[in-house]
Amino acid sequence: MTTALCPGSYDPPTNGHVDVIRRAAALFDLVVVAVVVNPSKQPMFDIDERLSLLERSLTGVPGVEFEAFSGLLVDLAGRRGADAIVKGVRVGSDVEYELQMAQMNRELAGVETLFLPANPEWSFVSSTLIREVSRLGGTVDRLVPVPVREALKEKLT
Ligand code: PNS
Repeated sequence: MTTALCPGSYDPPTNGHVDVIRRAAALFDLVVVAVVVNPSKQPMFDIDERLSLLERSLTGVPGVEFEAFSGLLVDLAGRRGADAIVKGVRVGSDVEYELQMAQMNRELAGVETLFLPANPEWSFVSSTLIREVSRLGGTVDRLVPVPVREALKEKLT
């Protein structure tokens, strides 16, 4: 049985995240969507909200589990017996950032990271921009899963 981790802050999940998780689920028997408890900044959505949004955005996709984690990602990889970490990459700056983390995780625990190129449709979409645009009154409906669309409206009205 092959297991992959798809780690992230997911504050909030975007269509780009969902696309990468679906594609990882087609490659591995089990994908553990690992949601970091304490992103560096105060999150817009707390950990329970982020887990619930992810679960509802991926309803019906087989072989996907959701788990909150704190501490080192490689420790979670060890606990779950993960064969690989899967990350989506959108643009060159993502590759630089992700490569450094991938190399550190391999140094720490020998865990490999696989990069999936983002679907170009979502390559400009980030959680940071989704939060900023929606806080300032812009429409991000096309860029996020329906449960996130509704949660943003609720949070900001
Ligand atoms: O969605 P993000 O913010 O790009 O996710 C980053 C994340 C959560 C994958 C990364 O910060 C992480 O792995 N954090 C856990 C702590 C850790 O293991 N740090 C060392 C990484 S080399």
